[in-house]
Amino acid sequence: MRSWRTADAGATHELGRILARELAPDGALLLSGELGAGKTVLVQGVAAGLGIDPASVQSPTFTLQAIHGGPGGELLHFDLYRLAPEEVAAAGFEESLLGPGVKAVEWAERLPFRVPGALALRIVRDGDARRIEEIDPAAAPV
Ligand SMILES: Nc1ncnc2c1ncn2[C@@H]1O[C@H](COP(=O)(O)OP(=O)(O)OP(=O)(O)O)[C@@H](O)[C@H]1O
Ligand SMILES: [Mg+2]
Repeated sequence: MRSWRTADAGATHELGRILARELAPDGALLLSGELGAGKTVLVQGVAAGLGIDPASVQSPTFTLQAIHGGPGGELLHFDLYRLAPEEVAAAGFEESLLGPGVKAVEWAERLPFRVPGALALRIVRDGDARRIEEIDPAAAPV
C-alpha cells in the first residue's frame, strides 16, 4: 500500500493530478478523513488532471453529487457527510459509483456497499502537513 506526505495544499492538489492518470477513464476514488483534511483539495487536483477547471469543484455538501464534464469523460463528485447509510443506499449512489466516469467520494467511510477496484485513501493531519495513506477498500467499515 502506498503512502504520501504532502507539506501543503498545493502538494495535495498535485498528488490528485497524478492520481487522475490511474483513475481515468472509469475509476473510483474513496476518500476518508476528518473535516478539513484535504479531501476536496485532492479532488480538485484530480479534476485538473482530467482537464476540468479545479475551481468548479467544491464540497458538494448540500447537493450530495456534482457532475463535471471534461474532455475525456465525466468526474462525479460525491460528499456523504450529511447522509446516513440508509439514505446513501436509497439514493441510487451504487449505480452511479459502478458506472462510467471518474468517481470521487468524500466521507467514503459512510458507503454501505463495496466498490470493487476502487482506490481508497485516508488523509490524516500531520501538523500542517497531511499523511495520505492507501487503504484496502475492502477493510473500510460497511
Ligand atoms: N497538506 C495539505 N493538504 C491539503 N489541504 C491542506 C494542507 N495543508 C493545509 N491545507 C488546508 O486544509 C484545508 C482542506 O480543506 P478541504 O475542503 O479540502 O477539506 P475536506 O477534507 O474536503 O473537508 P470537508 O470534510 O469539510 O469536506 C484547506 O483550507 C487547505 O488549504
Ligand atoms: Mg470536502
